[in-house]
Amino acid sequence: MRVSARAHPNIALVKYWGKRDSELNLPAVGSISITLGDLWTDMHIDTDASADELTVNGEPADSMMPRMSAALDQLFGADRSPISVSSESNFPVAAGLASSASAFASLVVAATAASGRELSKDDLANFAGSLSGSAARSLYGGFAELENAGDRVAVRSLRDTESWPLSVVIAITASGPKSVGSGEAMEISRRTSPFYMRWVGEQEDDLASARNAIEEQDFSALADITEHNCLKMHSVMWSSRPPMVYWNAATLDCMHTVWRLRADGVDVFFTIDAGPQVKAVCTPEYVDRVRDALGEVDGVEHIMISGLGAGAHLIE
Ligand code: PMV
Repeated sequence: MRVSARAHPNIALVKYWGKRDSELNLPAVGSISITLGDLWTDMHIDTDASADELTVNGEPADSMMPRMSAALDQLFGADRSPISVSSESNFPVAAGLASSASAFASLVVAATAASGRELSKDDLANFAGSLSGSAARSLYGGFAELENAGDRVAVRSLRDTESWPLSVVIAITASGPKSVGSGEAMEISRRTSPFYMRWVGEQEDDLASARNAIEEQDFSALADITEHNCLKMHSVMWSSRPPMVYWNAATLDCMHTVWRLRADGVDVFFTIDAGPQVKAVCTPEYVDRVRDALGEVDGVEHIMISGLGAGAHLIE
């Protein structure tokens, strides 16, 4: 039997960085994200396999195998038959583009259906979150908030895709895999950054500001809190030992370009995750201008554009 699901990556406006419980993979802070409609991962689960296998865009992906096998054991039982998992994405994986979010969200939806079990959306989000924190948010479309409550994560929708159709222009400044994976990097930050506790302590205020800006459709307030929260997270990374600097020169040039555009009246702001890519969020009328400006930055290899999109779902 073959079951397939599609999930879209999401980009956090208020970031998740740090774990409260690494065993259960519970985040130390809540987060707010937007789900991208034009980028996707399709996950196929085949239960007629002769051995467990995992391929990503046609290549074996052994590093993800332990997390995936553990997830399949939970659903099918440890004495299950071998399962073949294959995925395709239309964007570079492991480069700070939240590919783990769309991978694990689509895996959870497809594998749950293949196992014949029925889980509520809450349970699916919680399951996805146990595999990759940000994956829980990709169960939802539009604007979503991950709340950090008790021994579970709970995700809720803040606003749907249609009622505030923002666009995201992604400047790819390097396409190789990242140097330190986010799970390991978060632990280094928690243990060593002098700013880590301050970061955690201020998150509730940042979440409230972003929630409010989203509710009021206040672009400039959302720009302000998103960039502040992003730069605070990177300050934690930079001040960790060893330091984790995911940016390159083009990353910084893109940031200045976004600020220049905004000074010229363009509704645009940036955010950056655990990688060197710059995600510029703008209103749809400015997409061409933002794309052209970022495309001219030295070191920008490639631009991708996406609108907002739906939560993870089964596909034919
Ligand atoms: O879900 P993970 O373990 O890949 O961590 C995501 C971390 C950031 O992308 C940097 C922030 C976020 O909230 O997505």
